Amino acid sequence: MTSQKLSTRSRELSPFHVMDILAQAKALSEQGRTIYHMEIGEPDFATAEPIVNAGIKALQQFKTHYTPALGLPELRHAIAEYYDRKFSLTVKPERIIITPGASGALQLAISSLLDAGDNVLLADPGYPCNQNIAHILAAETIAIPVSAENYFQLDAKSVAQHWNAKTRAAMVATPSNPTGTILPKQQLTSLSEFVERKQGRLIVDEIYQGLVYENDDYTALEISDECFVINSFSKYFGMTGWRIGWMVVPEFYVDAIDRIAQNIFLAPPTISQYAALTALKAETQVILDARRDEFKQRRDFLLPALEQLGFEIAVKPQGAFYIYANCERFTDDSFSWVKNLLNEQGVALTPGIDFGTHLADKHCRFAYTQSMEKLERAVECIDAFIGR
Ligand SMILES: Cc1ncc(COP(=O)(O)O)c(C=O)c1O
Repeated sequence: MTSQKLSTRSRELSPFHVMDILAQAKALSEQGRTIYHMEIGEPDFATAEPIVNAGIKALQQFKTHYTPALGLPELRHAIAEYYDRKFSLTVKPERIIITPGASGALQLAISSLLDAGDNVLLADPGYPCNQNIAHILAAETIAIPVSAENYFQLDAKSVAQHWNAKTRAAMVATPSNPTGTILPKQQLTSLSEFVERKQGRLIVDEIYQGLVYENDDYTALEISDECFVINSFSKYFGMTGWRIGWMVVPEFYVDAIDRIAQNIFLAPPTISQYAALTALKAETQVILDARRDEFKQRRDFLLPALEQLGFEIAVKPQGAFYIYANCERFTDDSFSWVKNLLNEQGVALTPGIDFGTHLADKHCRFAYTQSMEKLERAVECIDAFIGR
């Protein structure tokens, strides 16, 4: 019999607990129950029509071949123009690399910066795939507990405390998943200065850029050209299924990343790149900004509603579409609590444990990727669950 041996790295990969929640939600839905999906980390809106039409046109024109591994030159130029239009910033197109989503960019960033056994510092709670991608690439992560004091974000002090001889990079996301908090510009500036002094690299995931509610949106590129900036068409642009994103890197890294990208992806998806050209147009952004405003309305409803129910939200989320809430008043085991809430009231959330270990049992994440009516109904159901 053929031996069924998995690599240690794949065996050790941690599962997402939200998958259990999704399976449970699916089973309940099949029994005819109404489920309020607040666990989903993607916009409920379908991709905007002009973008879809651009994709259809690309197909009709048989744009079905590989592009260069670093992406279509016109898309790299269009992203440079986007930085100019949005932030009055000059970014050389040569530094812009088109990737299969931010996920592809994260893989390229880690593989170009870290050798086996090197480590990257990141926030706990944080986006869970970062740890797993590093693990798959034989690199290590050091998760730093973050709290409300620092907007649930890394800062120079916490990074200095954890930096060691094997540390090559620190990674942040602003706005953050799961907390929706923005890294204040000053905090990012001192963090970037510290990392540069250590000859390391700061990786800044800006995937939720554009979904920023009252603060000024900014990019880390305004602060330093030395960092790796990751972005994506998934969230603000509403193109999750198109698997397209980008990364801006210091020029020195472009050749190496080109070689890695050629080998692991060959090229980013061609049709999606043509569609992305339309996503970046000023006319399309009118549609996308209206969607952003709707997300803001939902946040403005959900945040006080949850606080009224007794959840503690230590920092007002200013971006993305998440609220990371402390549910300690109701439970000290948020995973079981989330499962019971789903069973009894049909509301699906993501348990804190999916984002790390720091106070994870006391937290859960609400995604407001549902219509206002559904959110209103979900809040009533949570109220009934708590008051039972
Ligand atoms: C912080 C963060 N980074 C990266 C990703 C990956 O996104 P994509 O590969 O769809 O661009 C996600 C997805 O939820 C995310 O929340």
